[in-house]
Amino acid sequence: MTRVQSDARTDVLVIGGGIIGLAVAWRAAQRGLRTAVVDPSPGGGAGQVAAGMLAPVTELQYGEEPLLRLGMASNERYADFAAELTEASGGQDTGYRWCGTIAVALDSDDREELRELHAFHRRLGLDSTWLTGREARRLEPMLAPGVRGALHVADDHQVDGRRMLRALLLACERAGVLIHRAEAVELLVEDGRATGARLGTGETVAADRIVLAAGPHSHRLAGLPEGVLPAIRPVKGQILRLRIPDAYRPFLSRNVRAVVRGQHLYLVPRENGELVIGATTEEQGYDTTVTAGGVYELLRDAHELVPGITELPLVETSAGLRPGSPDNAPLLGPTALPGLVAATGHYRNGVLLTPVTADLVSEYLATGELPDLAQPFTPTRFSPDRSTTKASA
Ligand code: GLY
Repeated sequence: MTRVQSDARTDVLVIGGGIIGLAVAWRAAQRGLRTAVVDPSPGGGAGQVAAGMLAPVTELQYGEEPLLRLGMASNERYADFAAELTEASGGQDTGYRWCGTIAVALDSDDREELRELHAFHRRLGLDSTWLTGREARRLEPMLAPGVRGALHVADDHQVDGRRMLRALLLACERAGVLIHRAEAVELLVEDGRATGARLGTGETVAADRIVLAAGPHSHRLAGLPEGVLPAIRPVKGQILRLRIPDAYRPFLSRNVRAVVRGQHLYLVPRENGELVIGATTEEQGYDTTVTAGGVYELLRDAHELVPGITELPLVETSAGLRPGSPDNAPLLGPTALPGLVAATGHYRNGVLLTPVTADLVSEYLATGELPDLAQPFTPTRFSPDRSTTKASA
C-alpha cells in the first residue's frame, strides 16, 4: 500500500483527458469542486478522430432503448451545451451544426434493412420520414441515381470533436481545472477506498473521488482491484477526411448514413468544407494503423453512394479506438470500489453522450446522488456478485 501525499487538496481527479474526461472535469469545476485531470496528451483520444454525428435515431439498434433515451437526452442538451462551451472557452466554435440526417439504402436488400429501422422508429414514436429514392435525391442531389429509398431524421445533427476538445481544454483551464500532463500509472487504494493516483513522473495526486475516463485503457490501470471494472475493448475505426472546394458546395447539406450492400457508412459534411467519411469497425486490439484495405472499402462504398466524392481532395486518413463495454453501453457513476467513479465505455457514442455524461456524473460528484437517467448504466451491473458489491461514494 502506498500512502498518498499531496499538498494541494483535490476533490475530484479525472484520469483521462479525452472528450468525456474533460467534459466531466469542466462540469465538476463549475459545481465548485476542486478538480484535476491527468493525461499525457489532454484533448486527445477517440474524439480527435470521430466524425461527430449526433445520431441517436439513425444509429438506433434493437434492444438499445435505454441507450436511445440517454442519447436523445444528450442530443437535446447539445445546442445549449455547445453555446455554453463556446462562451466558457472564450469564443471557441464547436462546429455544432443543426442539419438533420438522411439514412439511405443503395439496393433492395439495403432498403429492406432500412424499412425495418423505420418500422422500429414508428413503434417507438420517433420522428423519421420515409422517402423514395427520387425524394432523397431531391434533398441531396449528389446521391447516386440508383438509391432505392431513404429515411429523413430531422433531429440527428453533428458537432466537430476536434473543436469540442479544444474548447473543453480551454474551458477547463479557465474554470481552474488543474491539468497534469502525465500518465496515471497506478490507482492508489487505501483501506478499501480509491484515494488517488501515482503518475509517471513519480508524483502522487490525492483526491476524494477518482473518475476513470480513460476509454479503452480504463480497465488496464494498475492497482484497480479485480472485478471493479469489466474489460473495455478497443474497437478500431478508420476514417477519411476530404475537402469540398468552394465551387462544389454545398455538395451535401446534411449527414448521410447508408447501408451499402450490407456495409454501414456515413458522410458528415461540415460547414467549413470538411467532409468526413467513416468508419470501419475492427476488433484487433490496440492497433491504430490505417490500412489500404480500410481506406479502399470506405472509398468504394462512399463512391457507390455519392459518385462525386472522387473529385474531392483527400486530406487525411486516421484511425481511433472506440471503448466498447461488454453490452456496448457506457459505465456511468460509482463503482464497487468506494471513491472510484466511472465515465467510460461509450463505444460508438462518445461524442453524442458527452453533454449528458458530464451532467450526470458531475451531479453524482456534487451531491452523491446518481440521477435516474444514469441508473441503467451503473458499472456495478458487471460486478461478479452484485449483492455484495454495492456501489458507494
Ligand atoms: N458513431 C460512429 C462510429 O462509431 O463510427
